[in-house]
Amino acid sequence: MSEKKHILRPGRRPVQPESPLPGGVGGGVECHEIGISPLHPSPTPLPWMEREDLSCFAAVPRGAEDIAAHELKMLGIAGAIAGKGGVAFVADRSGLYRANLWLRTASRLLVQLAVFPCSNPDELYAGVHVIAWQDLITPAMTLAVDCSLRDSALTHSGFVALKTKDAVVDRIREACGSRPSVDTSSPDVRINVHLHKNVCTVSLDSSGEPLDRRGYRLERNEAPLRETLAAAVVALTGWDGSVPLVDPMCGSGTIPVEAALQVARIPPGLKRSFGFQHWLDFDSSLWDRLVREAEDGIQRVPLGLITGYDKDSRALALAARNSAGAGLEGQIHYFHADLMEFKPEGNKGVVIINPPYGIRMGEEDDLRELYCQIGDIMKKRCKGWTGYVLTGNLELAKYIGLKASRRFVLFNGPIECRLLKYELY
Ligand SMILES: C[S@@+](CC[C@H](N)C(=O)[O-])C[C@H]1O[C@@H](n2cnc3c(N)ncnc32)[C@H](O)[C@@H]1O
Repeated sequence: MSEKKHILRPGRRPVQPESPLPGGVGGGVECHEIGISPLHPSPTPLPWMEREDLSCFAAVPRGAEDIAAHELKMLGIAGAIAGKGGVAFVADRSGLYRANLWLRTASRLLVQLAVFPCSNPDELYAGVHVIAWQDLITPAMTLAVDCSLRDSALTHSGFVALKTKDAVVDRIREACGSRPSVDTSSPDVRINVHLHKNVCTVSLDSSGEPLDRRGYRLERNEAPLRETLAAAVVALTGWDGSVPLVDPMCGSGTIPVEAALQVARIPPGLKRSFGFQHWLDFDSSLWDRLVREAEDGIQRVPLGLITGYDKDSRALALAARNSAGAGLEGQIHYFHADLMEFKPEGNKGVVIINPPYGIRMGEEDDLRELYCQIGDIMKKRCKGWTGYVLTGNLELAKYIGLKASRRFVLFNGPIECRLLKYELY
């Protein structure tokens, strides 16, 4: 199975990989009543401004789809359908804004405009051109086209992105007399085209920057966990803030920070902006109200509830800065310690470990030993606790030497990982 992605650049045709885009659900096989679709032609599609039920697709790291569907349910958005790599749901603008603000595991939220069969350039152009783009984009605005292809007759993602852009700007020029320009770095409107088995789904990307960019990570350390994945890990452990949570290899603190955001009821999107804020239909008073309500619900993290350790003091300094950037200054404790010195306080809680697993030449023996130590430390010093290890290396995981009571499959980008659960008694 081949998958190709492309982001259209102004004036040239480079290929730039981006975060994963929809696969199964919302990946083009369903036909939703937004925009005109030759699969189920709608004689009188509602103008964009009057549409209330938006067909949405949340792209989610694989393995976290059910969690994202549950998150949507908790936001009062019923009927979400989890599929491979994402969740399809219907929401009004308030639901779309809340989902962007609050979803911890989704990487972007797309709003479907049209779905149509597409096996050649003419069908692509016609299917895109029929959308009333002048309702969505004025000539003064900027746009970008992201494209992903799977198992389709059109195989050149750069070409598909270019053809899509042509159809969009032609339609706007016909309606308005001039056309918008392309800006790939920070466009007003990001258009998403997904071709799967010769069915094309055209969507607006309501998130803009991927949602894992929360705005709190100021610098990157060597192997930071993606924020959406860290949030999924915390959710999979079932941790609810009633017992301590510790991360003995916290690096830049992504797991402690995501856990703290959850328990403090801080929306992950509070510190950032979103694509939909540039849209012509943006309802700023609705948005301001949602943000105010969220801010009113924020609580402090109880002292000593969440702790991170690492042997790398620079990573710890970064973790402290990231925590402060997330609005959690002084609410997570960090300690400089080697795993060998680690002993959690109290007789129950959750230990989450994300050890290194990328093996470079000469590192294998060290990592085997580290994984042995993880097993020993969990067994001897964490009695009564529940342990979790997230790793992308199943061979190394064997060296932990304890029997996992559960295994969750999660994808860190293309890397298939396991979150292993250990009952420690
Ligand atoms: C994969 S990184 C963790 C990344 C982290 N989850 C983040 O988001 O930044 C593994 C971390 O384990 C730490 N580490 C490796 N060996 C260690 C040891 N023996 N004791 C404590 N920390 C260790 C490294 O310094 C590194 O920060």
